[in-house]
Amino acid sequence: MYSCRSFVSAAGHCTSLGTSSWAAPGEVTEAVKVAIDGGYRHFDCAYFYHNESEVGAGIQCKIREGAVRREDLFIVSKAGEKDLPLDHSGLAIPSDTDFLDTWEAMEDLVIAGLVKAIGVSNFNHEQLERLLNKPNLRFKPVTNQIECHPYLTQEKLISFCQSRDVSVTAYRPLGGSSQGVHLMDDPMIQTIAQKYGKSAAQILIRFQIQRNVIVIPKSTTPARILENIQVFDFELSEQDVEDILSLNRNLRLATFPIAVNHKDYPFSIEY
Ligand SMILES: NC(=O)c1ccc[n+]([C@@H]2O[C@H](COP(=O)([O-])OP(=O)(O)OC[C@H]3O[C@@H](n4cnc5c(N)ncnc54)[C@H](OP(=O)(O)O)[C@@H]3O)[C@@H](O)[C@H]2O)c1
Repeated sequence: MYSCRSFVSAAGHCTSLGTSSWAAPGEVTEAVKVAIDGGYRHFDCAYFYHNESEVGAGIQCKIREGAVRREDLFIVSKAGEKDLPLDHSGLAIPSDTDFLDTWEAMEDLVIAGLVKAIGVSNFNHEQLERLLNKPNLRFKPVTNQIECHPYLTQEKLISFCQSRDVSVTAYRPLGGSSQGVHLMDDPMIQTIAQKYGKSAAQILIRFQIQRNVIVIPKSTTPARILENIQVFDFELSEQDVEDILSLNRNLRLATFPIAVNHKDYPFSIEY
């Protein structure tokens, strides 16, 4: 499902490990262990990444070792309408339901104590506004997880979300791994990286943090996992942030073509 609802289970951290991966068995578990040792406390998961047991194994291992406590971790999962109903809560949701009805089921999860907070993903500003204006809204979405990087800076949507006190989480912050887009090789990003003595990935991650945007780079490479969290010892100048913003070309990499004819396809309007 292109627009999914996020289940959020503890307090926030601004740099997270994205876990969508078609990695070899065990790779995601190892990535999670490296990440916890490296200081990550936020893990971005989803039912449809089909690796929740691997993520869980890494977390359980580190809890058993005493490296971290469960209450220190911020674990996000996602479900599309087709992933619901949620058998452990007794909720039954028709698959053709409106997203506002689905939201009520998610609110029930909070009431039941199964999740701490709920959010959305890939919502445009009209959808978010509809949700925020929903009569009898019991819980606001805490975040809207959206594709965001210098080629898709999302300034209007970020401004809208932040004005409504909904945080933004940037997915595909490094430009992902396919589709012939090499964001990390962009000459401006490379120049800024050299100026600060940082990698291109670190510049892209820091850029989001300075916009008050949560950022979830994915890696299963231990050295990169550690590199991607070494972003708190420098600050981009305002001019550099402006220059990075100027790279925007509204280039959306995650377009979810399978959903393009869905009535709630979110990318048909400007933002
Ligand atoms: N809500 C949604 O609809 C949605 C959609 C897409 C993604 N997401 C979430 O966002 C997360 C991140 O997005 P993404 O995985 O699409 O893209 P991404 O994080 O922008 O890019 C991941 C790619 O960058 C590489 N990489 C990571 N760190 C690097 C570094 N320091 N130097 C060089 N290369 C590096 C990774 O390689 P290695 O792994 O080989 O190191 C991988 O190929 C996902 O894992 C998922 O949790 C959400």
